[in-house]
Amino acid sequence: MFQAQTIIEPFKVKVVEPLPQLTREERAAHLIAAKFNVFSVPAETVTIDLMTDSGTSAMSQDQWAAIMRGDESYAGARSFYRFRDKVRELTGMRHIIPTHQGRAAEKILFSSLGGKGKYIAANTHFDTTRANVEYTGAVAVDLVIEEGLRPESEHPFKGNIDIAKLDQFLSQHEGDVPMVLLTVTNNSGGGQPVSLANIKQTADVCHRHQIPLLLDCARFAENAWFIKLREEGQQDRTPKEIAHEMFRLTDGAWMSAKKDGFGNIGGFLALNNDDLAVQCRNLLILTEGFPTYGGLAGRDLEALTVGLDEVLEEDYLNYRIRSTRYVWKALDKLGVPLLRPAGGHAVYLEARGFLPHVPPSELPGQTISTALFLEGGVRCCEIGTVMFGHTKADGTQQPGPMDLVRLAIPRRVYTQSHMDYVIEVVKYVYDRRENYHGMKIVDEPVALRHFTCGFEPLGWDPTG
Ligand code: F0G
Repeated sequence: MFQAQTIIEPFKVKVVEPLPQLTREERAAHLIAAKFNVFSVPAETVTIDLMTDSGTSAMSQDQWAAIMRGDESYAGARSFYRFRDKVRELTGMRHIIPTHQGRAAEKILFSSLGGKGKYIAANTHFDTTRANVEYTGAVAVDLVIEEGLRPESEHPFKGNIDIAKLDQFLSQHEGDVPMVLLTVTNNSGGGQPVSLANIKQTADVCHRHQIPLLLDCARFAENAWFIKLREEGQQDRTPKEIAHEMFRLTDGAWMSAKKDGFGNIGGFLALNNDDLAVQCRNLLILTEGFPTYGGLAGRDLEALTVGLDEVLEEDYLNYRIRSTRYVWKALDKLGVPLLRPAGGHAVYLEARGFLPHVPPSELPGQTISTALFLEGGVRCCEIGTVMFGHTKADGTQQPGPMDLVRLAIPRRVYTQSHMDYVIEVVKYVYDRRENYHGMKIVDEPVALRHFTCGFEPLGWDPTG
């Protein structure tokens, strides 16, 4: 039987959006105006935008058609019931609370469960999750397995939580841990999956300690696909069956539906606990809106309802994970240092290996992301010292635990030739890596500095 080697996109193009192609000189001028922070350059100057896979998906014809069915009634809209039923079917949870995006669900959940003296344990908290936990005075504790912290480890489920450490932690802090969470896939750990066995073991430990387990399920479908590919005994199941089991092992979930919901906006909180649901709905009304729209338009709910089905289609998931791996494999073959193995939604460059002559305090990740934009108009995101380090009293930088550059791949947006172009740009920068010295921070805000701080190149001239 004919077995194609080429991974084709399982869709064809109906609407097109022009792709900006500026000159290097023009991009250098934009970088200077943006103080070398790619968050501050206009999107119209970016050729391939790999800053995030969040809210950047291309919607399908069925999603656009569903948008026309949006019921914009303030209370009890038809669109809500459709959305509620779809999320109920997926998660098996009783209470479905729509929110405008993931962090809104986090704010509501942790306002209800967090607080001073409390601990929230996770494989790894995503940065908005951590920020929302800490904002309540609670402590966010990451207990990912040791392999999850080593970029070179090839462990198939680097997103797993360390079960022994979790058990010990819960015993030590009996009474002070209101919930445990698993981020699937583990975004901050490189988009690495969590195995079904690990979810089961986590649920067992949590339930022995009478603590609820929740999923931060922004990329649940990609996680389910990795389980199908890599976990023994799962090959013959559909991603939908696997996803159902992932959710049914837990007591609740929240989702940024801007990822695996194929939405440009949206999220939800799904709970089984009646009292907690009442508390969360009360907060929802305060900050998001009435419980049947939660900060979204009826049309957004319709688009998500369709998206949550489409994301579990096997042709799509096969293409999605193989096309991310395609970029990863090509860069690996060129010798570019990468976080291993390929993640679901992104390829991560290992910046300390990529620019060995730039010490972490001189921001190798930020230097690479600046160079990729300057040379080829590819925008990506530093996940390293700028994001997780800080400026010490003497003005020097305390490095973050790793220096990575995330090339996040928007869903159904770019073709294989776009990705071939990205590979060429990375190769160009890697081949000339000695020309790029570090960067320094010249102004910085008090919180979440990576979004708005200003930089200057150290001893290299981007206009030269
Ligand atoms: N949880 C995870 C695992 C996420 O990746 C994100 C967002 C959130 C929660 C927050 O959701 O943005 O809808 O409020 N991640 C984006 C990213 C921003 O680029 O990875 P949100």
